[in-house]
Parts: sequence; structure tokens; C-alpha cells
Amino acid sequence: MDAIWNDLKALAEGVEGRSLVSLFEDDSRAARFSRRLDDMLFDFSKTQIDDAVLSRLIDLARAAGVEARREAMFSGAKINETEGRAVLHTALRAESGPIRVDGQDVMPGVLETRARMAAFADKIRAGEIKGAGGRYSDVVNIGIGGSDLGPAMATLALAPWHDGPRVHYVSNVDGAHIHDVLKGLDPARTLVIVASKTFTTIETMTNAQTARDWMGRAVADPAKQFVALSSAVDLTSAFGIDPERVFGFEDWVGGRYSLWGPIGLGLMLAVGPERFGEFLQGAREMDDHFRAAELDENLPVLLALVGIWHAQVQGHATRAVLPYDQRLSRLPAYLQQLEMESNGKRVAMDGRDLALPSGPVVWGEPGTNGQHAFYQLIHQGTRVVPCEFLVAAEGHEPELAHHHRLLVANCLAQSEALMRGRSLAEARAIMAAKGLEGAELERQARHRVFPGNRPSTTLIYPKLTPAMLGRIIALYEHRVFVEGVILGINSFDQWGVELGKELAKSLEPVLSGASDGRGKDGSTLALVAFARGEG
Ligand code: F6P
Repeated sequence: MDAIWNDLKALAEGVEGRSLVSLFEDDSRAARFSRRLDDMLFDFSKTQIDDAVLSRLIDLARAAGVEARREAMFSGAKINETEGRAVLHTALRAESGPIRVDGQDVMPGVLETRARMAAFADKIRAGEIKGAGGRYSDVVNIGIGGSDLGPAMATLALAPWHDGPRVHYVSNVDGAHIHDVLKGLDPARTLVIVASKTFTTIETMTNAQTARDWMGRAVADPAKQFVALSSAVDLTSAFGIDPERVFGFEDWVGGRYSLWGPIGLGLMLAVGPERFGEFLQGAREMDDHFRAAELDENLPVLLALVGIWHAQVQGHATRAVLPYDQRLSRLPAYLQQLEMESNGKRVAMDGRDLALPSGPVVWGEPGTNGQHAFYQLIHQGTRVVPCEFLVAAEGHEPELAHHHRLLVANCLAQSEALMRGRSLAEARAIMAAKGLEGAELERQARHRVFPGNRPSTTLIYPKLTPAMLGRIIALYEHRVFVEGVILGINSFDQWGVELGKELAKSLEPVLSGASDGRGKDGSTLALVAFARGEG
């Protein structure tokens, strides 16, 4: 591996400053540095990756053991070594088995739960299962992190298919969140989903209790209007939820990988089991591709290698995810958890310090909004931000096709502008055409220079259908996996979220006055005093 990393570093030095535009003197570049999976096209030609780089990146994936590790994951081996767990979110979307964990086929359980979810969703949507006030008009999903971001993102993404009750998501422990969501709802016609893998997460349990109190003020038996999604089934009954209304899953599903099973119930209620099935099918197609395709034809592997090239080889600390789709506006937040909770680690699987930077900071906003906010820095700032564009060729509103054309034009224009830039000579000519001359022309022209040569990739597909969304999410999941394997990281634990949780627990009594906060630092105590109105 070291030799490959060194080669890649040398190659990166060799291509630094090379004109991306000049790479397209090779007419075949766009075709050779893009890959398709059926009607999905991943274009990575606007990067500095050339034949030599790609070949060494593929060597890297092979040397890291991506193929064997991939097989280990799909077949239920306990690759989450720090927690001693298998990693089988792919089983949640599989159609058949056997897929074994500890010798037991998990598929009968998965299929049974999926069928129970579908039967339940059908009955809610048809009004056969009702609230105290009649047919359910609204569903409130209470969860956080993986028990919120995935289903909330997907529910918004598939808005054109909504034909069930309105589905809302509450995550923040800030009472403002639940207050503002419940404010407009009728408790007698609202179903509350408590989504928590562990069923101990303080934010979720606090919000769930508040929702139960709210419902209890209007409905005789509020527990009847509650559903639980969890792998801690015993704790759900302690909360008073009828076992019939509990949809369980196993600890081999990581929170941020869980929207394919029970945690996706909110989405299923919104779009129906059939559309949800198409969503799973799309993900399955990506699984099959990821498992079978050669490394240099494999979309998740290539997306990962582009990521490694930019973050660990070229040293860019962040990457922007830029969906040109308003309905994918929660995708960056979802990917922040998926990528940063998975690969934001400083210790490798073998317990040694990571020799390379961990996964990059992931951020973004939908286009075209971002263009009027932070693209200034992307184009002219001193830091290079590799950009990942996503766009559908076609929108959902035929009568608004002219909007969509503009949207696509903007998306393609941005990647072109990032690559092409604008030279000083071009900027001077623009200023001269405006009548400027001499020192003033020179000064003004410099502000209008775009360095260009800024890398980006584009994922383009015909339309954002349930199946396409499934494919896109599975593509990113597997990308994170491959990057984790190459970095030697366990992408499936998240110890880094624990310390803050513990300290919050110890600070709550300090804020309430029940504890004097002995042992806390001066800054924290001063902030506590201020919050208590004593500072
Ligand atoms: O705090 C991080 C985390 O553990 C995530 O990994 C998880 O998705 C989220 O909290 C919510 O956890 P749970 O589903 O157990 O409530």
C-alpha cells in the first residue's frame, strides 16, 4: 500500500496545475472517464484523474482488499470489529437469502417485518386503522440521526408520490421543533412513530414523552396511536407501546444505514408499500452492481476513488455535494452523517493512528440556491473544494419544463466554469470592452479572474424516481464503505458521539441547580451562570 500511496502522491505533484481543459483535447476523455449503470451516468472526467492515476487508484482499492471486504460485508461477517457486529443493511433490501449471521438466516425475519410494515401501512393509508378522531391525517416521526435524516430526506425527495397521510419529522431536543410541528395537528388524527434503534436516545425519548403528554390531553388511550421502530423491543413495551405496533430490527443494521427497514416506515406511509418496494429495488440494483462489477467499472468504487484522490492524495479537506434538485435539499445533511460519522475516525481498525487524513468534511446545499451563497468561494477562494453535482435530466412538472431546463443549464454551467475559469487576458478584454484602461483596467481585471482547474464530478440520471433514489443512496453507502476500507477505518461504529452525550448528562443538573458543577472548567461554569440568569 505504501508504495501505491507514494506513487499517487508523485502523480498528484506531476499533474498539479495541469489544465483540465487541455485534457479534453483527447476526444475520448468524456467517455473514458465516465461510467454508466443502465441509465445513470457518473462523469468524473473534469478531474485531474488520468489513465496513470486511475490505474494506481484501482491498484490501491485492490491492495486494500476491497473485494474481499465487500464479500465479507454482503455475506454477514462481523466486519464491525469494535462492536462485534455484522453489517447487513443490504439484507434489509434483499429479496431472498440465505444471508447468515452466526449461522442463522436473517432473511425470513427481514421479509416478515417488511410484510408487516406493508400491511400496517396499507391499513393506515386506507383508513382501516384509525385514530380516536377517525382516519389519520398526519404522522409524526420522532427520531434523530439515522432515525431521522434518511427517512426525512427520502420522504421529501419522493414528494411527487405522496398519496398517504402527511408525514412530519421531529428530531431536535429543542422544544421549538416539536412545538412547531404539533401546533397545527389534531392529536386525535395523528399517528406518532418513535424511531430509535437503541430506544434510549435522550432527544428522542424526551420528544416522545412530550408527544405522549400532548396526545394524552385529547385522547383517552394515547399509546394506541404510537408506533415504535427499534432494535430494543423490550424498551418499547416499557414505554407502553403495543407489541403489535412495534417493528424491530437487529443490531447488524447501523443507525445511519437503517432507512431500508422499519426506520423507513414514515416514507412507506407517505408513498405506499409499492413505491417503497421500488425504492428498495433500486438499492438492490446498486448492490448487485457493486458486488459483481470489476473495480474499474464499479460506480461506488470509482466514486470512492475520486474521493480518496481529492481528500487523501491531493489533500482537499472538504467536498461539496450539490444536488440540483430542491427535493434533495436534505441530501447533504443525510450524507454528512453517512460519510462523517462513518469515516471521521483518527484510529484505524488495527488500533494504530491513521497515517492519512480521515474522511473529508462534507457539506452542500441544493442548486441553484448555493450559487447565490457560497459558490463565490468555490470559484475564487484560495481553497479548492471538489464538487459533486447531481441532477436529473427531467423534472416532475411537465408544465414547468422551462424551469428544469434552466436548472440543468445552471448545473452544467457550474462544472464548466469551475474547470474552465477565466484568464487574466479574458478579464482584461472584458474590462477594455467596458471602456476601462490603464491601471484601473488592470486592477478591475484581477478581481474578475477565475483560476479554473477546479475539479468536479456529475451524476446525471433521467428522473428522480423511487428506484433512482434507492440507487443513489446505495451508491453513496457503498462509496463510504470503500473509502473506509482503503483508509483501514471501521466505518460502522461512532464512538466519537459519546463524550458530548455524557457531558450533557452531567451538565443538565448543573443547569437546573441540582449540582454545583464541581470539577467543571471556568468557561463552562460562566456559561452555565449566564444561562441561569446569574452571570
Ligand atoms: O449519536 C449518534 C447516533 O448513535 C447515531 O449513530 C444514530 O443514528 C443516532 O444517534 C440515533 O440513535 P437511535 O436510533 O438509537 O436513537
